[in-house]
Amino acid sequence: MNVLILQVSPRAKGNTAWMADEYKNAAEAAGHNVTLVNVAHKHIAGCLACEYCHGKGNGQAPIQRMYCVNAPAKVKKMALLCSSYSPGVYDGATAEFRDICNYWHAENMGVVTAKIDEQKTDATKQKIVDLVAKL
Ligand SMILES: Cc1cc2nc3c(=O)[nH]c(=O)nc-3n(C[C@H](O)[C@H](O)[C@H](O)COP(=O)(O)O)c2cc1C
Repeated sequence: MNVLILQVSPRAKGNTAWMADEYKNAAEAAGHNVTLVNVAHKHIAGCLACEYCHGKGNGQAPIQRMYCVNAPAKVKKMALLCSSYSPGVYDGATAEFRDICNYWHAENMGVVTAKIDEQKTDATKQKIVDLVAKL
């Protein structure tokens, strides 16, 4: 399966990057074709209503939209990895995640979260490996 990981933390060696790398390693070990994109360093914004994509852009937006990375129509399954310092801060992110899974008719494979004492641990790594096993 083709796997696209969108890593949204700007810290290259941070906790979110570690979770993304563990997911990538496990998926590649299982034989999947993985692309990891660091979204934090891209210029991403909402639709500008400039109509560039419907004219000169020939379908491409002037900003780096998600559908420029991979078409949503090809997204079959999605998973969410989140890290934070505090516990109990994931409701907003998980609600958005459930919403986009429903909107794209993609299977919600699950969410792995890691607060301060769960970051870069074997237990969190195992949760990520278990998530990859659902691919
Ligand atoms: C400027 C800044 C603000 C932060 N604010 C919060 C916060 O409000 N709540 C929280 O749980 N963690 C907060 N954190 C901690 C990060 O969310 C946490 O360390 C997370 O694991 C960071 O992921 P990263 O290592 O990929 O950057 C903050 C970190 C920074 C640098």
